[in-house]
Amino acid sequence: MKADTGSAYPSAPAGPGLNAAVERYYDTTLDLYEDLWGEHVHHGFWDVGERPGNDDERHAATDRLVRELVAFAGIPSGARVLDVGCGIGGPALYLAGPLGCEVEGVTLSAAQAARANEKAAEAGLGGRAHFHQRDALDNGFPDASFDALWAVESLMHIADRTAFFAEAMRLLRPGGVLAIATWSVRDGELSAEEHRVVDQILRHQVMPSFSSLEEHERLALAAGFAEVSSVDWSANVANSWEPNFAQVRELDNGRAMMRDLARDRGVDVLGFFYAGPLMLKGFSTGAMTYGAVRAVKPAALPTED
Ligand SMILES: C[S@@+](CC[C@H](N)C(=O)[O-])C[C@H]1O[C@@H](n2cnc3c(N)ncnc32)[C@H](O)[C@@H]1O
Repeated sequence: MKADTGSAYPSAPAGPGLNAAVERYYDTTLDLYEDLWGEHVHHGFWDVGERPGNDDERHAATDRLVRELVAFAGIPSGARVLDVGCGIGGPALYLAGPLGCEVEGVTLSAAQAARANEKAAEAGLGGRAHFHQRDALDNGFPDASFDALWAVESLMHIADRTAFFAEAMRLLRPGGVLAIATWSVRDGELSAEEHRVVDQILRHQVMPSFSSLEEHERLALAAGFAEVSSVDWSANVANSWEPNFAQVRELDNGRAMMRDLARDRGVDVLGFFYAGPLMLKGFSTGAMTYGAVRAVKPAALPTED
């Protein structure tokens, strides 16, 4: 299998039903994620070789991933930022709080947008962070209206990544920065067994396809971005799925609870529990990777007169 895929795998959701499936997944798992990870719906970040500790550590690690991406991408304090796939606002509230940014966040999930607005108000940041239920590719914001476009673990849910990079170019002002953290796959061919694991991850996590970090860079360059670079954080984030840390033990001793959840909310909710063992396998074979991508919209060329 070729890892670079703009195309969807047959068993992964795609086409017109994709956004509705993503919306349903995050509506029905909001409380599960919030109980486990707090306000962040993304991996934690550790130094390579560091082991995860207790629950406080979980939140320190997810906070750290946000700070690492701010540093890698160079998000300036006070920037006007569009958060693509904002979840319940964890990263955005860091940008709006300590970093003093003005943030607009979009998510497909109405429940997430409502919870994010509630959390912004609770944090006294309702004036600087606003969250909307909108599609990232049909967002209604004017051209060149953001200094930074921030997308943490949302791009895997978007089938048309060429359109995503074109939309990022439209939304950024010249000189504006694009910051992405994303699940990805190794560049090049995957074995049949690796393909099988990757395909299950896609299906359970409601993702149409993965691209390699290199492919993200190629797409950014093709869209006209400059200063494009990426960093592989696979070894920094893989701890997130440690069985005793990420509660994947529920698969062994929580079957009754999972059955009840599936009955009440629909079977898609179970993707929340399947992610851990599958991601551990994906990272251990090297088929799954994770990293950040940075790119800058070139400043306007001087006009000749
Ligand atoms: C794994 S969560 C990450 C949430 C958040 N960025 C964080 O780090 O806490 C993925 C998010 O991407 C959003 N998403 C996926 N596809 C989207 C699209 N086409 N438009 C807007 N949001 C999208 C989902 O609704 C969800 O909020």
